[in-house]
Amino acid sequence: MDTNQHIFQLREDFTKGTLNELDVEKTPDAQFAKWMQQAIEAKVLEVQAFNLCTVNKQSKPSSRIVYLREFENNQFYFYTNYQSRKGIEIETNKNVSATFFYPELERQIRIEGTINFASKEKSDAYFNSRPTESKIGAWSSLQSKQINSRNELENSVLQNQKYFENQEITRPHFWGGYVVTANYYEFWQGRKSRLHDRICYELNSKNEWVIARLAP
Ligand SMILES: Cc1cc2nc3c(=O)[nH]c(=O)nc-3n(C[C@H](O)[C@H](O)[C@H](O)COP(=O)(O)O)c2cc1C
Repeated sequence: MDTNQHIFQLREDFTKGTLNELDVEKTPDAQFAKWMQQAIEAKVLEVQAFNLCTVNKQSKPSSRIVYLREFENNQFYFYTNYQSRKGIEIETNKNVSATFFYPELERQIRIEGTINFASKEKSDAYFNSRPTESKIGAWSSLQSKQINSRNELENSVLQNQKYFENQEITRPHFWGGYVVTANYYEFWQGRKSRLHDRICYELNSKNEWVIARLAP
């Protein structure tokens, strides 16, 4: 079958669960923790991967997958190169969004918020926990910059391996954590006939989370 014909005809119905505004947790971070735990228990693939959307100076969005490494109190941590495309976009616009997709559970979680650097202590602690090859990799890749060949990257790795042979591999100044502070969440549970459940949480002027249902 032709690929376009195939995807045009695909029709999956969602039947694995329901989501009710009366049953959800009072706070979205508790609801997020519950769904993350259930996804881990359901052995969802790449459970900590999320799509991070940033916006550049010209208001043009771009997105990519990154790994969530920690979350608590509406704060979501990930680690990357500060001089990458995302890093440059974050410098000019602190508004970001994040999307998790758990196909095995027919669930999606959308988060919106503002982003800042994680503390140096957190970045150091995470960097130091990484395997040696990943530490060398961080030093060796000018993430998002054009390179001439695979060889160029591999030579950079060799040079850094040599340089750090007999010394501690410290965190590069251009690499570390970001923390997204969420001000909006949406929990989506697929339902039959596209009549999905969508429950969102938004902060009101008194800084309280208000729960609402959205049309699918
Ligand atoms: C499953 C998966 C996990 C990833 N995790 C990270 C991550 O935690 N940090 C990171 O910098 N890039 C990660 N990447 C690579 C990014 O998607 C992206 O290629 C890279 O960060 C450069 O993006 P940018 O040019 O928009 O800055 C991951 C990619 C995939 C597919």
